Amino acid sequence: MLIELSHIQRLYRSDEVETTALQDIDLQIETGEFVAIMGPSGCGKSTLLNILGTIDRPTSGSYRFGTQELTAMNEAELAKFRREHLGYVFQSFNLIDELTIEENIELALIYREMPKSERRARVAHAVDHVGIAHRARHYPSQLSGGQQQRAAIARAIVGQPSLILADEPTGNLDTDNGAQVMDILQRLNDEGATIIMVTHSPSHADLARRRIDMLDGQVVVSVRNAI
Ligand SMILES: Nc1ncnc2c1ncn2[C@@H]1O[C@H](COP(=O)(O)OP(=O)(O)OP(=O)(O)O)[C@@H](O)[C@H]1O
Ligand SMILES: [Mg+2]
Repeated sequence: MLIELSHIQRLYRSDEVETTALQDIDLQIETGEFVAIMGPSGCGKSTLLNILGTIDRPTSGSYRFGTQELTAMNEAELAKFRREHLGYVFQSFNLIDELTIEENIELALIYREMPKSERRARVAHAVDHVGIAHRARHYPSQLSGGQQQRAAIARAIVGQPSLILADEPTGNLDTDNGAQVMDILQRLNDEGATIIMVTHSPSHADLARRRIDMLDGQVVVSVRNAI
C-alpha cells in the first residue's frame, strides 16, 4: 500500500462560518495505480489533492505514505518528503515567466545534491519525454498552452517522483492538447509512477485505472475501470 488516508477531515474556520471541505475520507491507493477524481465544483477535490501533496494539512485524521505517518512530520521533514517523492501538475501551469523552460524545470532539482551535469542531463531527458525539446530555451510566454502544460509535466517528473498529483491538467487545453497530456500521463503510469488526477472530463477519467467520485467532501463511489 502506497497511501492510506483514515478519517481525514479538513475544516475551514473564519469568524462567522465553518466550511467542511473534507468530511471523513478513507482512501487507499496502491503503488502504480492511476486514479481519477471527479465531482462537482466545491466538493473538495483540490483540498484532497493538496492534502495528498502535503501542501495543506488535515484538521484531523491520519495520512500514511508507505511506512511514514505524514501528519506527524514538521515542515522541514515535509519539504524533504515532497522533494523526494512528489511531482505536481496544476491547471494553471505555474511556470516562472522570467526563466526559460529548461531553467523552470531545473529549478525542481536545485535543492538536491546533484552535480550540474546530472541536472542538465535530467532536464534534457524530461523535455524530450514530453516532446518539447525544441522549445527548451524559450520562455513560457513563447509557448502554446499545450506546450506550457507539457513543460509543467516535465518539471513534475524531472525529480523522478513516485507519486504524481495533477489538478485538472487538461482543464485549460483543447481536445488535441488534452489528449497529448493524457498520453504522457498514461506513459508515466506504464513506467511505474502512481498518478492521482482531478478531472472534469469523463472521457479522461475513463483512461485512468480507477475512478473516485466525490460529493460534499466525501468519497461516494470508487470503481475500477475495465482497461
Ligand atoms: N482557503 C479556504 N478558506 C475557506 N474555504 C475554502 C478554502 N479553500 C477551499 N474552501 C472551500 O472548501 C470546499 C472545497 O473546495 P475545493 O477547492 O477543494 O473544491 P473543488 O472540488 O476542487 O472545486 P473545483 O472543481 O471548483 O476546483 C469549497 O466549499 C470551498 O469553498
Ligand atoms: Mg479544484
